[in-house]
Amino acid sequence: MRKLLLQLDSSRLPSVFDQVVAYDAGADVIMSYGGVAESDVRDLIHGCIFTRGPKDLHNTAVWIGGNNMSAGEQLLAMAQDAMFDPLKVSLMLDSNGSNTTAVAAVVKIEETLGDLSGKKVVILAGTGPVGQRAAGLLARDGARVTITSRKPEQGEKARQFISARFNVQVEATTLTDSSRLPGVLEGADVLLNSGPAGVQMVPESAWTAVKTLKVAVDLNAAPPLGIEGVEVNDAGEKRNGVTVYGAFGVGTLKTKLHKACVARLFTRNDLVLDAEAIAEVAREMGPRKK
Ligand SMILES: NC(=O)c1ccc[n+]([C@@H]2O[C@H](COP(=O)([O-])OP(=O)(O)OC[C@H]3O[C@@H](n4cnc5c(N)ncnc54)[C@H](OP(=O)(O)O)[C@@H]3O)[C@@H](O)[C@H]2O)c1
Repeated sequence: MRKLLLQLDSSRLPSVFDQVVAYDAGADVIMSYGGVAESDVRDLIHGCIFTRGPKDLHNTAVWIGGNNMSAGEQLLAMAQDAMFDPLKVSLMLDSNGSNTTAVAAVVKIEETLGDLSGKKVVILAGTGPVGQRAAGLLARDGARVTITSRKPEQGEKARQFISARFNVQVEATTLTDSSRLPGVLEGADVLLNSGPAGVQMVPESAWTAVKTLKVAVDLNAAPPLGIEGVEVNDAGEKRNGVTVYGAFGVGTLKTKLHKACVARLFTRNDLVLDAEAIAEVAREMGPRKK
């Protein structure tokens, strides 16, 4: 029986990246819908669950993506509401690659530092989809997390969202320019840049001055890179005594994880792969060579 993936994308054009990875992960057919609104979801899900019988439903799965994380979360909630036992299919949410990218970054940090309890983590521009997911996961693992934003109200909104979504405490601080970096980074063990593509967030002089810093991860792959002095292919190199990862150093694991999650969707019909469950898949993939 063919493996069918229903792609529900909140953006107008369903992500080609997500489609390519899904085919590479074993989907036989992808049924793609773009610009999906909450009111569209129930009938699309019913098209999945009322066709094949319960014992075959693991051959159908639903992927939820798009640029907007909160829209993706709403679509996921609607999809869950539209199903009932035993007529269910597995679901995965990865709007803008947020969950798989955040989990891959967290794995790299944990592989380097081990136990994160009490470690200070600063997530630059942590208000975006990737930064918010990473903040929640790291705080769940016991880290003291601070996210930065250029705008106080934006930072506070994200802080409240992360705290509620992951049941954790995180802090938010305003960072309008690099002159405030010494104060923001003081005592940090981990620096994670989740700022946008093509924006340098930290000059080399700022992070190399932080004597407590042990790990720096930059998720921006487009020049100028986000953390000056960390190269895009860095994958655990030591620079200035700090273990560093660039976007491709994290991206390889992100893509493997993305594929593993899509493949897993077709193993049963009741999975819901969101941040925590995706982190669990990464753990089950086992330790990696650095
Ligand atoms: N390596 C991988 O596999 C992979 C996969 C997916 C994504 N990524 C990368 O991960 C990073 C985060 O992705 P995302 O989608 O979460 O990011 P995003 O939403 O594009 O941006 C994150 C935050 O950056 C801040 N920002 C926007 N423009 C800025 C500017 N000019 N200067 C300083 N801050 C600015 C905004 O926060 P405030 O308005 O609150 O300041 C925004 O919420 C991106 O670099 C993306 O390319 C990497």
